[in-house]
Amino acid sequence: MHLKTIIYQVLFFFSFLGITSCAQNYIQKPNKLKLSEGFINPVGFYNPKPTFSWQIPLSDTNKSQTAYQIVVASSPDLLPNSADLWDSKKQQSEQSTWIQYKGKTLSSRQKVYWKVKYWNQNGQASTWSDINTFELGLLNNSDWKAKWTGLDTAKDSIKGVRKFLMHRPQYLRKSFDLPSNIESARLYITSKGIFDVHLNGEDVSDDVLAPGWTPYNKRIETLTYNVTDLLSSGKNAIAVELASGWHSGRISRGKAVYENFASPKILCQLEVTLKDGSKEIIVSDASWRGTTNGPIRLAGLYDGEVYNANLEMPNWTTNTFDDASWKDTEVEAIADSVKLAPKRHETVKTTAVLENVEIVSTTKSSVIFNMKQNMLGVPKVTVPMKKGDTLTIRFSEMLLSDGTFYTKNYRSAKSTDYYIAAKDGVIEYTPKFTFHGFQYIELSGYDNSVKPTTNWVKGLVQHSNFQKNGTFTSSHEKLNQLQSNITWGLRDNLLDIPTDCPQRDERLGWTGDAQVISPTAMYNYKMHAFWTAWLQSMRETQSEHDNGLVPFIIPDVLQNNRASSGWGDACVIIPWDIYNTTGDKTVLEENYEMGKKWVGYYQSKSNNYIPTIHSFRDWLQPYPEKGGKMGNRGDTPGSFVNAAYFAHSAHLVSKIAGVLGNIDDEKKYKNLYKEIALAFENKFFDKNGKYQNKKQTQTAYLLAIYFDLLQPETKIKAQKHLLETIKNADNHLGTGFLGTPILPKVLDDMGEIELMYKILFKETYPSWFYSINQGATTMWERWNSFSKANGYNPQSMNSLNHYAYGAVGQWMYERIAGLSAIEPGYKKLRIAPIPNTEFLNAAAASLNTSYGKASSSWKIENNTFNLDVVIPPNTTAEINIPYNTLDSLLVNGNIFKENSNIKLIDSEKMSIKILAQPGTYNFQTKF
Ligand code: BGC
Repeated sequence: MHLKTIIYQVLFFFSFLGITSCAQNYIQKPNKLKLSEGFINPVGFYNPKPTFSWQIPLSDTNKSQTAYQIVVASSPDLLPNSADLWDSKKQQSEQSTWIQYKGKTLSSRQKVYWKVKYWNQNGQASTWSDINTFELGLLNNSDWKAKWTGLDTAKDSIKGVRKFLMHRPQYLRKSFDLPSNIESARLYITSKGIFDVHLNGEDVSDDVLAPGWTPYNKRIETLTYNVTDLLSSGKNAIAVELASGWHSGRISRGKAVYENFASPKILCQLEVTLKDGSKEIIVSDASWRGTTNGPIRLAGLYDGEVYNANLEMPNWTTNTFDDASWKDTEVEAIADSVKLAPKRHETVKTTAVLENVEIVSTTKSSVIFNMKQNMLGVPKVTVPMKKGDTLTIRFSEMLLSDGTFYTKNYRSAKSTDYYIAAKDGVIEYTPKFTFHGFQYIELSGYDNSVKPTTNWVKGLVQHSNFQKNGTFTSSHEKLNQLQSNITWGLRDNLLDIPTDCPQRDERLGWTGDAQVISPTAMYNYKMHAFWTAWLQSMRETQSEHDNGLVPFIIPDVLQNNRASSGWGDACVIIPWDIYNTTGDKTVLEENYEMGKKWVGYYQSKSNNYIPTIHSFRDWLQPYPEKGGKMGNRGDTPGSFVNAAYFAHSAHLVSKIAGVLGNIDDEKKYKNLYKEIALAFENKFFDKNGKYQNKKQTQTAYLLAIYFDLLQPETKIKAQKHLLETIKNADNHLGTGFLGTPILPKVLDDMGEIELMYKILFKETYPSWFYSINQGATTMWERWNSFSKANGYNPQSMNSLNHYAYGAVGQWMYERIAGLSAIEPGYKKLRIAPIPNTEFLNAAAASLNTSYGKASSSWKIENNTFNLDVVIPPNTTAEINIPYNTLDSLLVNGNIFKENSNIKLIDSEKMSIKILAQPGTYNFQTKF
């Protein structure tokens, strides 16, 4: 330890005991240091111009920040005083999030060290934080010496479902020698396809389905692994399993842009740094050997995996294996047109294992297991078998009334795994290159002299490995089940990209579904990096087309050059949501041009401000006038939805321009929005605020009101008509994908909270609890996907795992528990629960904001309203006590009295408003 450090620590120790005369009374160091969208000490990081964030520990003395200093260096020894890369110097600023790095240019592989300190509200300096690090990945194509390598599996591919080609999965390997003086090693790797890599017989990581899904014709993500501990001196072996995945599997639909079923390939570069500073580099090239005669015979994301244990190749991943009988590989140069870039969000992993399984039924030769939760992932089976027999593993989301599988809704997805046994005895098998959406598993082909037991199967839950962000709970069992269904619906559809569903022959990045769920998703999970990564794919895809068209799905495997209102708008709405949730302006900068181009696309297709583009409209609205496929679009016309979203996107672009300080654009898009709104009102509404259409829909009113498209007087009248439509539906919702997410916000704004509670707590169709009453454990695609009385919806487009209707989750956090943001990123919070004593006597939510944990938790007992609140440091909160009982209000046990922590803002008819500084508070009032 340096002498200086020792002296410093001694001083620090004494200062803690209060027995130093040092004038500086150091305060607690910052913690939770993060990089850009939330990365902690990343290796293989994507961004050479990151932002820095940290948190201030909450204590009685630490309320907020008044200044900060960040130091960044190429070695920890240079910190804090000799930072050679960047010293921000002391900056007077409250900002503790998203501080842009402004130091020397950083390059591929560079390892960087940083720390930060802050000054609190009294100007006292903290001690320095611990040192955090990041190491950049390979940022340029020119960093790669490797070549795309693999076997030509197109030659002997087979025709699978719908005659789509299926490539045989490949096994690729190379042996190589290393000297004894290894200092460190990094493996840079990716594939066209999906891979699993091993070094010297060990798994390099627990990532699954890597590298994930991007528009492969534009950008392929690369991964970096620290493999220092997996290498040894002498002979080593690297081994890769490779399958088609999204790249050349059926899900790609073979469009030319995805190389039309070209053979999967790997790209891999192992860089070993030796103690003398020199480097050994092992790359994928024609010296690699490969075979397709391994145990995984076939693998498709939709159709499942075929595994033949007779073809296992013991030790093939180790350095002792002889690959002489394997084939030479073929290579392909790296194209300049496809950017190789480090992955910018979490990889997919197994995040939970469902073990609480139940046997539903058995026949002589088959058994059905219930996982008790509709899930996305793969099973792990541990089953007795007889040599040569084939175990068939089938999946379904629910059962038919006769106890057999309901699989009509998988459509053409076979979703079946097969395992061929090589010997008698218990086998263990987990499919590797596929995934399924299921709650039930059927096994057949096992040794049926053995009675099935529940430990035969486990469910490995897989999704992008983002962290949990918030919690919501209440005193109402069904509301808690709804929260569970919402979060499972998210986990089951956030596998590298946001998907519509995890089970049928889609599993695609539908933009409309994503834009309606993004706020709720961000309440429940840390999804900043996930969304920004997908938005990059969206930007790359938009540039393919003229006029700023954003396709229905990203990555765009449909390639049909069509866009839909309410769907393409994801390119403006999601960046705006991310900004409001996190306060990070980078996402607005990154996506600003995309939003403008999208508005331009509407403009280019408009006649008197009414665009004529395709629209899926209020998708799956209940009780549509038409039946069948056209009925799926609901009764709010396309031109209405087009104009409403055109206006809304223009409005948001104007707001984004405002945040970015672009005054001209702010004005221009605001004017455009106003012009569209005027044309919209004239075309679709009369002077009495009545929507000019025989069929009145809730969504027509909701869009017009929520997007602020009516003159103030018309709006008030339209609100009354909205209430009529709800009354006519006997307080049921009548909304599809676009109307549902905004229904609570509009009713809340109108002060119709009681009505919203009534709608939310409805038990009959169409309602949220209806699906729960029918046994749902996830959100369903349709309000009537299934009923105990009538069975399944006859349409095959009937997923039991679609997240859109879970968008009500946002309102549950914001108003039932009462936790929302007034200023972006929760710099200022609102705690404003609206208790409803008819249905609830308690609700609570917590949230890991960028500043720390915030929470709001209320309960009602003996006519006393009790509210516990946590307000994170460096924020303030407006707290609304929903009763006007100032004289009986207790704060932390004492009669309310203003002090430096709490001030009365307002005492209204129905509530008391208090401005509070960071801290924990308990409020109690009789009512
Ligand atoms: C998907 C939806 C999607 C819709 C567009 C469906 O097939 O599953 O969720 O938004 O098509 O209409």
